[in-house]
Amino acid sequence: MYTIQQIKSHYLFNDEDAETLKSLLPIAKGNRERMIRDFYDYLLGIPETAAFLQDEARIQRLRLSHGGWFVNLFCGVYDNQYLHNLQRVGHVHVKIGLDAHFVNAAMQQVRRFAVGMIRENFPDREERRKKTEAVEKILDINLDILTASYIEEELKKVFISKRFESLLVRATERFTYGLNLILVLALVGVSLSVVGLFFWEIFHVVGGPVEKGILSALGTLLILWMMIELMDNEIKSLKGGRFNIQVFIGVVIIAIIREILISTLRHDPLETQIFLAGTLLVLGVVYYLVARSQQLSISR
Ligand code: HEM
Repeated sequence: MYTIQQIKSHYLFNDEDAETLKSLLPIAKGNRERMIRDFYDYLLGIPETAAFLQDEARIQRLRLSHGGWFVNLFCGVYDNQYLHNLQRVGHVHVKIGLDAHFVNAAMQQVRRFAVGMIRENFPDREERRKKTEAVEKILDINLDILTASYIEEELKKVFISKRFESLLVRATERFTYGLNLILVLALVGVSLSVVGLFFWEIFHVVGGPVEKGILSALGTLLILWMMIELMDNEIKSLKGGRFNIQVFIGVVIIAIIREILISTLRHDPLETQIFLAGTLLVLGVVYYLVARSQQLSISR
């Protein structure tokens, strides 16, 4: 936000311009009603602006506001209070939902009216040029301050939504990270139980049938292998790596191999064993296809 002094200096508006405008005050007052009439004829001619001017009592009140603003252009004092008042007017228009486009267009109408007013009253060319220049400057300053309210409002909206978005994204990221940590811890717990199971089975090999003991211990080792693969994959994804679907197919393959081992030990019917072997074959083909497609996407 610029101070009124900065704004005036950016528009090369000096004390002489202020004096020139002040000298036009009586003429502006005399033209006030004509200006209001022109201004409202214009606003009522556009459906979007006419929509704001439906109720007659309101129009009467607004005529006072808009007419007052026009006369005040020629007050001669352009200080902080002038700036604050214009900022408030800008916010009033933003609040009623008036498109900034119409403020710009309306200002063009006021400009035309004011230039015409000077042309009618000052035949001398040099005098006319000086007065027109001062009017142009103050109108540009007014428009600048009024439209700044719109920009300010837009920035506020963008800022709030951006802040909310990044807050939401950060919270979701933390939540997912927390879930992943819980998953890793659970995997560690399950792996430890599998290690316990493995030693328990080795211990029982000594007492029971050797062949059965070794095969179940082998099955448990396969589970352990599966756990290692899953944990490895989880840690890689925690570190920002890609999610690897191949690992999950590998895990299912290991589970099926273990089931085949147990099924042989249990002497399950032939159909069950054929079904397991068939599933293993299908999974093997899927594993191969996924591995190939992943290789292709990496080399591309
Ligand atoms: C040159 C551009 C314009 C200027 C300098 C201007 C100036 C003003 C001023 C000084 C007020 C009184 C604010 C207050 O003290 O509360 C006002 C209010 C208002 N203006 Fe404008 N105006 C402009 C363009 C427009 C346009 C294009 C419309 C469209 C219809 C419009 C509609 C209104 C309405 C509806 C209010 C009353 C808001 C309320 O209090 O509910 N103005 N304007």
